[in-house]
Amino acid sequence: MNLADLNKVAVAMTANGKGILAADESTGTIKKRFDAIATENTEDNRRDYRELMFRTAEAMKNCISGVILYDETIWQKAKDGTPLVKIIEQMGSIPGIKVDEGTKPLPNCPGELITAGLDKLPDRLPKYYEAGARFAKWRAVIDIGAGIPSYTAIHTNAHALARYAALCQANQIVPIVEPEVLMDGDHDIDRCYEVTEFVLKETFQQLYYQRVALEGMVLKPNMAIAGKKSAKKSSVQEVAEKTVKLLKACVPGAVPGIAFLSGGQSDEEATAHLDAMNKIGNLPWNLTFSYGRALQAAPQKAWSGKAANVAAAQTAFTHRAKMNSLAAKGEWKKDMEKAA
Ligand code: 13P
Repeated sequence: MNLADLNKVAVAMTANGKGILAADESTGTIKKRFDAIATENTEDNRRDYRELMFRTAEAMKNCISGVILYDETIWQKAKDGTPLVKIIEQMGSIPGIKVDEGTKPLPNCPGELITAGLDKLPDRLPKYYEAGARFAKWRAVIDIGAGIPSYTAIHTNAHALARYAALCQANQIVPIVEPEVLMDGDHDIDRCYEVTEFVLKETFQQLYYQRVALEGMVLKPNMAIAGKKSAKKSSVQEVAEKTVKLLKACVPGAVPGIAFLSGGQSDEEATAHLDAMNKIGNLPWNLTFSYGRALQAAPQKAWSGKAANVAAAQTAFTHRAKMNSLAAKGEWKKDMEKAA
């Protein structure tokens, strides 16, 4: 492992004012997104859609540090035959790859999940590196509900994340460590805080046991935020203050950067929360975005599967990328949204 090089990549992924585009939806997940815009889930449509984002020069060059790809996409070629990975590189952005194989039920823990994909990872990682991937992603999912999460689920998922991270670093790939506490429930922000704190502390303990170099990783956490079905809605300032407090309590300063998932927040909420955190400032790590839905909802809608809408989709993508780039510097203002 060359830690100096891993660190360089991790620093570039979370460089000030830039963030990550999570375009790594599995074929099943992108089907849900395409269903919403009445677009058929074919390989060509998936390619055309992702190609239009990767070719959006203004967004990619100025706002997007890296792109997380799904396995299909890393091998795909653009319509003109250029590998999609090459287009990303030409835009000055770093290609990355989702390497987990989704979730399976966790035995003896009803309603809880464990992320699969460790077994073949040592063989797959060198191939992804050769294809151009310089970072990877593994998502663990922790749900909040009556009697859950269990310690079994927290511990087992944290252990798998650490095993994945160690394997990535051994293959000169920066791991994005993503322990996602879901915001699907009716819990309030304080319950989310308490669970996320436990999850992050366990995750960093397991990373230590697996000898993962924190300087060569990026954390992708959820924010401290109330569940979508909660009656108690928190203000932007409360989410920002509690998330910063939580991260300061759990994430060592050796981690170069933290890139949040959006997790089902609206586009503007995800931007406003990130901005408010960066306005607090004086943080030991760079705080940025690694958004999927919060970057892509608008371009997807504008595109709606039609070649004639590519320019409109690229405009929508550029706008969201710019708003989040400003938020990553604490320079976003709500009225910038109206001007769009
Ligand atoms: P969302 O921003 O849509 O939560 O997706 C980010 C991601 O990569 C989840 O694994």
